[in-house]
Amino acid sequence: MKRQRLHLKAPDNWINDPNGFIYYKGYYHLFYQYFPYEPRWGTMHWGHAVSRDLVTWEHRGVALYPSTHEDRNGCFSGSAIEEDGKLYLVYTGVRYEVVNPEDPHTCLDEQFESAQLMITSEDGFHFDNEEGKTVIIPPLTDKKIGDRTHTRDPKIWKGKDRWYLILGSTMEEKYGEVLFYQSEDLHTWTYVNKAWKGPDYGWMWECPDFFETEGGGVLMVSPMGLLKNGEKETNQSICFPAKFTESTCRMEIPDQYQFTDYGMDLYAPQTTLDPEGRRVMEGWIRMPKPAEEGWIGMFCLPRIVERKGNHIYFRIHPNVRAAYSKEITDISCASKDGYMAVFDLEDGEQADIGGFLIKRKGNRIQTDRTAVYPSIKGAHLVSETPELTNGCRIEVLADKNLIEVYINDGEYVISNAVYGIGDFIKVNIEKTVHLYTLKEHDERTRGEE
Ligand code: FRU
Repeated sequence: MKRQRLHLKAPDNWINDPNGFIYYKGYYHLFYQYFPYEPRWGTMHWGHAVSRDLVTWEHRGVALYPSTHEDRNGCFSGSAIEEDGKLYLVYTGVRYEVVNPEDPHTCLDEQFESAQLMITSEDGFHFDNEEGKTVIIPPLTDKKIGDRTHTRDPKIWKGKDRWYLILGSTMEEKYGEVLFYQSEDLHTWTYVNKAWKGPDYGWMWECPDFFETEGGGVLMVSPMGLLKNGEKETNQSICFPAKFTESTCRMEIPDQYQFTDYGMDLYAPQTTLDPEGRRVMEGWIRMPKPAEEGWIGMFCLPRIVERKGNHIYFRIHPNVRAAYSKEITDISCASKDGYMAVFDLEDGEQADIGGFLIKRKGNRIQTDRTAVYPSIKGAHLVSETPELTNGCRIEVLADKNLIEVYINDGEYVISNAVYGIGDFIKVNIEKTVHLYTLKEHDERTRGEE
C-alpha cells in the first residue's frame, strides 16, 4: 500500500474533501472523496488512508462505493464518530435523475437528489457496502427546511445528552444555510433548527463543521459563490466564532468571518479530536492541474484549531513539529519528504523558497507564486493576510507541490499548491534561517496489516 509523509496526496487520479476524520482504535483514519478512474472529478467513492501519528500515511484503497438506490451516483462527503467500540460513518448519497449523456460520471443540469446515509464498521477497515447502508435522512421534501438537491455533508457530534448533526444546504432565496438535527440513538434523526447569514455569504454552504473549544464555539463552512470578483475559485472556506445552544439548536453567527486559510486553495476542511483532546483540522488543497506524476488533489497538514476571543488560530500539530525537528544547515540535506524553514521578517524583507516569494509589507504577509504556478485566468497568485497583531515569525513547511506558511504560530496561514519549485531558500538579508527535516522515523504505521 502506498505510503506518504507530511502532506497526504491523491494515491492516483482525483481526490477532494477529507471525510470521516477520526482517531479510532489506535489509528487516525482519514477518508476522502475519490474518483478512482481519472484525474478529474466524477462518481464519488470514499478512499481511505490511515496513520499512527498524523505524519506517515498509508493509503488503504476504497472504503465506500456506490451500491444502493440512494448513493448509486456517488458517496459524497461526511463524517465519523465512535460509539460502543464501533465506527459510524455518515455521508451524503447522491442519485442522478438525469445522467449527462456525454459522461456517465456527471449529471445533467443539477438534476439529482441527496439523502443522508450511515454505515458502521467493527474495526475501521471493513465496510459492508452491499448490506450495511441505511438511510437516516431521506431527500428533503419541505422547501422551507432546505433543498432536495443541494443538502449534504453531514457532520455529527455528541452533545451533553444526545447526538447532533449539521448539514449544509441552500434556502429558497439561494442563501447558504446549515440545518441542525438531533438524535438519541444515532438512527432516528429529527430536524430542529437552521442558521444562515443572507446574500453576502454564498448561495450554498458545503461541508459545515461545528465544535466547541476552550475559547468558545467555532463554525466552519465552505460557501459556494462567496467571491464575486472574477476569481477562479469563488468557493472558499470560512470560519466564525459561533454560539450554539443545544436545547434549541439555535446558532448565533456574527457578521465577521476569517478565511480558514489565506492562500485561497484550501477548501472543505473537517476537524476531529486527537487522543489528547486537541481539535485537529484537515483540508483539501485544490490544484489547477495534475502533478507531474499524474495525480491531483492534496491535504494540508493537520492543524490544531484554537479560539482566543473572537480569533481562530490554526497551529502546526505537535506531532508534525516533533517529526520535522532534525536541524540541517543546507537545503540539500532535506529529505525528499520535505522540510521546515523558520525565520523572522521585518517590514520590507522577503524570502524566496525555490521561486515562491514571502514578503512582509507593513504588518501583513504577502506571498507570490507567479513563478511556480500555471498562468490561469483568475488564479490566485498573490495572497495576503490581514494585519498581524505582534511581530512576524514565519514557519514554512514545504514539499514538492505544497507550501504552507504559518505566521505567528497560526495567527494566519497561507497554503499554496506549487509546481516546479526550485531547491533553494533565500532570505534577502543576512538573517538566520533555521532549517529542519524529518527525523529518523519509526515504522509503526505498518503495524496490523
Ligand atoms: C465540496 C463538495 C461537497 C460534496 C463533495 C462532492 O468540495 O462539493 O459538498 O459532498 O464535494 O465530491
